[in-house]
Amino acid sequence: MVQTINYSLLPTPFSLPSQIMMNPTQQPPTDNHLQKLDRTIKRYQYQQDALIEILHTAQEIFGYLEENILLHIAHSLKLPPSQVYGVATFYHLFSLKPPAQHTCIVCTGTACYFQGNQTILTKLEKSTHIRAGQTTADGKLSLHTARCLGTCGLAPVVLFDGVLFGRTTSEFIGEQMSKI
Ligand code: FES
Repeated sequence: MVQTINYSLLPTPFSLPSQIMMNPTQQPPTDNHLQKLDRTIKRYQYQQDALIEILHTAQEIFGYLEENILLHIAHSLKLPPSQVYGVATFYHLFSLKPPAQHTCIVCTGTACYFQGNQTILTKLEKSTHIRAGQTTADGKLSLHTARCLGTCGLAPVVLFDGVLFGRTTSEFIGEQMSKI
């Protein structure tokens, strides 16, 4: 029987783009959100060491780290854009793409692997026409994998929109998918 747990774990995984084009003529957006970001940068006294904290704040404000925002932060901290982009792409907590409407994370840790999650993942990839780490073209679903979601006793485990489904099956996950 499939077990469902309300789960507040909300990772923000993302796929790395192959490259990013920084257009120096692009102007950063000028709205209240940007002013909020600027206040944070000022609070950190424009310290380059505060880059990670500032990126966190920017993601909280904007939902993800858009190219213009990275450029704006680089300019404000007098850092090379490549360095800011490098930090933003290194940490999986940061996302450079707008979040999809729904997120499905298939655990591919050892316990889940041996309980059949690879089959679930393969079926999901087939039915959605995307690979793990990608988002559907309509922005509805992001599919990701995780090494362990910390509930190995419930393997195989899938986290769907923050709700953890344990001892699940590909049929059950297929039903959840059909609802969206
Ligand atoms: S291996 Fe899947 S929850 Fe630990």
